[in-house]
Amino acid sequence: MADPRLYVALDLPSIEQARDMVARLGDSVVSYKIGLQLLPLGGTEFGRELAAQGKNVFLDFKLHDIDATVEKATRSISSIGADLLTVHARPDVMQAAARGRSGRLKVLGVTVLTSLDEQALIDIGYHHTAEELVLHRVRQAVEAGIDGVVSSPLEADKIRAIVPDDFLIVTPGVRMAGQDVGDQKRIATPSAAMNAGASHIVVGRPITQANDPRAAAQAIARNMAK
Ligand code: C5P
Repeated sequence: MADPRLYVALDLPSIEQARDMVARLGDSVVSYKIGLQLLPLGGTEFGRELAAQGKNVFLDFKLHDIDATVEKATRSISSIGADLLTVHARPDVMQAAARGRSGRLKVLGVTVLTSLDEQALIDIGYHHTAEELVLHRVRQAVEAGIDGVVSSPLEADKIRAIVPDDFLIVTPGVRMAGQDVGDQKRIATPSAAMNAGASHIVVGRPITQANDPRAAAQAIARNMAK
């Protein structure tokens, strides 16, 4: 019944609230993303608990450190039983994660954070447009041998054109037509994201803040299949 390609972002203030949300969603959702808000509060252990229940678990650590540390961190995270882990898409970081990965864990590169606009990139010292930088890093992700990238749904088609068929493209920034977009700027509907070449989508607040999270998740899963 649940579509495993839909990851619900558990961006909630406590593990207790995340556990309640998972219980409310029941069999309507089988895949969950745990990010920086919950990871310091026992999110990793909670991920282990969900994995033991047969759920798909995405640990959004966004690792970025020296090779040896990234490799060892990825090895530690592999032992949890999670499916997805993010690292920043720098060649050395991605290669180290590819070396540390084992078991069912797949590694995704975070190309360019969608909160960075062209001016922010110039301020950091990059002299490329966001799109040029995304595609450059996607090529480096393929070369590094990691499993996929996180991208805006609006870039998924351009990425799909230059990667192997089994390369994962995971897109946040997904909203149903007419829905409150919140702070997301570059958005697409679930079906548009999938049709552009996404392999998975990540949706948080439209589900976790809904009056009926289960109905919201089911509506998104139905829309994805269109
Ligand atoms: O609530 P919402 O659907 O906007 O949540 C999207 C999730 O995806 C959040 O966990 C957010 O941190 C994450 N994300 C994002 N944009 C990126 C990378 C990650 O929205 N570029």
